[in-house]
This record gives sequence, C-alpha cells and structure tokens, in this order.
Amino acid sequence: MIRKIGQGLVAVGLAALLAGPAMASPPSAAPTPPMGWNSWNHFAAKIDDATVRAQADAMVSSGMRDAGYRYINIDDTWEGTRDAAGVIHPNSKFPDMKALADYVHSKGLKLGIYSSPGPKTCAGYEGSFGHEAQDAATYAAWGIDYLKYDLCSLGDQMKATGSLDKAQAIELAAYRKMDAALRATGRPIVYSLCQYGVAQVWRWGGSVGGNLWRTTGDISDRFSRMATIGFGQAGLSKYAKPGNWNDPDMLEVGNGGMNPVEYRTHMSLWALLAAPLLAGNDLTKMTPDTLAILTNREVIAIDQDKAGRQGDRVHAEGPLEVWARPLAGGGKAVGLFNLSDQPSYVEVNYADLGFKAPVRTRDIWAAKELGKLKSYRVLVPNHGVVLLRLGA
Ligand code: GLA
Repeated sequence: MIRKIGQGLVAVGLAALLAGPAMASPPSAAPTPPMGWNSWNHFAAKIDDATVRAQADAMVSSGMRDAGYRYINIDDTWEGTRDAAGVIHPNSKFPDMKALADYVHSKGLKLGIYSSPGPKTCAGYEGSFGHEAQDAATYAAWGIDYLKYDLCSLGDQMKATGSLDKAQAIELAAYRKMDAALRATGRPIVYSLCQYGVAQVWRWGGSVGGNLWRTTGDISDRFSRMATIGFGQAGLSKYAKPGNWNDPDMLEVGNGGMNPVEYRTHMSLWALLAAPLLAGNDLTKMTPDTLAILTNREVIAIDQDKAGRQGDRVHAEGPLEVWARPLAGGGKAVGLFNLSDQPSYVEVNYADLGFKAPVRTRDIWAAKELGKLKSYRVLVPNHGVVLLRLGA
C-alpha cells in the first residue's frame, strides 16, 4: 500500500504496518530553527573545554536559556588524532568530551560538534572521510546533540573530477553517508550542512537529511557583509519548512563591529528569515544592549513561529526594503529596513501584504501598540529597521 507522509509517497509493507507505533516517523530534531551558541565567530581556534563550560554557565545565568537558546556548539579545532582502531579523539584543549557533554546537559542545554566529510576540516584538523559511521558512533557515545558538517577538503576531491555532475554526486553521497550514520546511532542529532550555499543546496539539503543548510559564505562582523548575506536571501522562503531550514550563518550580535541599530537589523532579519539563532559572541561579557537584542521575546517568537514559514522580500526601492513573514493565526511580521547612510521614511500599505481591513499593529522593538491601521509610514534610522507585528 501507499501512504502519504508529508509531500513524499512511501511504500509500506504489511509487516511494517503490523509493527504499529514503531512505524511513526521519528520527530524531527529541528521542528523550529535551532537556537543556541557557536564558538567560531568570536573564539575561532581559541576554544577549549573551560571556555565552553563558561559559555554554558553564561547561557543560563544571562537568561538566554530561558529565552529559548539550547545548543552549545563547538566549531572547528577540537579534533585530535585517531587511535590504532581509527577512533577520533579530541586534542588537548578538550580532555574529556563525554564529561563536557554531561556538564552541558546538567545545565539543561545540548552540545554540538563539528566535522567535515573531507579528510581535513577547513582549519586543517582531522575530518570524517572514511570514518563516518565510527565518528557518528563516537559523537553519540559522548552525548552530542548537533553536528555541523562542513564541506572543506571534500571540495578538493570534487574539483579533481573536472565535472560538475560528478562533483555533485560525490557531495550528495557524502552528506547522505553521514546522515545514515547519525540515524544509525539512534540518538536525535541535529544535522547542519555547511557548503556555503553553492549548487542551490536549498533545493536538495533536506533530501540528504539536512535539518539546516548554510545558504551563503561566511558572515563577518561588519554591516555590509551581514546585509549582503541577509538581504541576499530573497527568493529562498519556499525551501524552508519545519525540520528543514535555510541557514544564513551564525549571529554576530555583540561582537562589536556593528552598532545596536545594526545588530537589531541583523536580529530582525534573521527572525523574519526563520533562520537558526546561533549567537556568536562571548556570552560571559555582554552589554545590556547585546542581551536585550538576543533575548527579545517577541523577536524570538517570530523566529520560532510554529507555522514554520520563512519570510521574504515583498518590496524594494533602492536601499529601502520591506520584508514580511506569515505567522500562525493569520498575522504577519513585517520589517521596514533602511540600508542607506541617512535616516529615511519607509512606508508600507497593508493591502500589498494581503490585508483587506485595518489590522492591529505593534512596533516590536519599541514594545508599543500603534492601533488598527491600513498602512504605516515611519522614519527608519540609517542601517536600521522598524519591526512590526500585524494582526494575531
Ligand atoms: C568554514 C565555515 C565556518 C567555520 C570554519 C571553521 O569557513 O563556513 O562557519 O566553521 O569553516 O574552520
């Protein structure tokens, strides 16, 4: 017989049907965009066990855990060497990964790790090539809950084929291989693909098991780079859904290269994009502005909206852009952005967003009800945003 699961058709045998509850597809590890912290943007190679523990402590004491942040993700440079049996060990910066996972779990948080389908990671450490099942089993034994799998040196093998199609086949097989290995562990592990957004990964990232996939090259802590990446997501909304998210890279909020107005633009846009919210700053040293931006409950509610529909650009006029995201219950989150170097008025007519009657309007960052409106015109600071919630 044929059963419809999501959009796919799956043949189901009688024996399998008789197996009862075991038939249910496993719950996705990422029903909403993952929230947490990642070591790379701030610490890069200067990451170690003590620093990770301190970030976990700060995630709790700052209130970020209570705001929804969960994952503490170790990025590149934790890797040591393989023993005679091929088992990967952490380097001296991470003396006991299982003990670290236990510590992070004891705080009500989850631990993530990083590897590459190639022989070497991007920072030149040991990758998982040829050891996929073994590494997945090791991660599960440590208690890992999230894997970022970064293409890096597999790209060299792909290039060596001299053919786009052959290269693509190598890439898909490599991502599928680790997906199967992670599933075989029986532990729910969020699977994050990182290949910088080439080959329209948003079209196939979910089919190789990815819960999220990077849609771009690396972010940096500059307004121009953040804006190039963030506003470059136009058109990708249809590829995101619960369990499968576009990932425009980790947050730079609080790293010091942008002002609070620009960081609010960054955070608002990521929420409209249903992007993973992975803080990339030092959580032990946050200004009140940084903490307020990262923990604004109404912005997080937009990012985590249970309908799981990504927002998209609805209008652009030079450096002024309007983005909207449909929310559960029929409302919409709307960002009025000014990318120019001068303050500017931005206007939105709600009929253009599909509203026929006046709707309740709330300015999220100002935490202010604006009444029932049919349109809104507001002065937006340079590089800034006014984020609205319309309707429900
Ligand atoms: C790549 C990734 C980054 C980071 C580094 C680590 O550049 O895109 O996010 O993981 O590798 O080496």
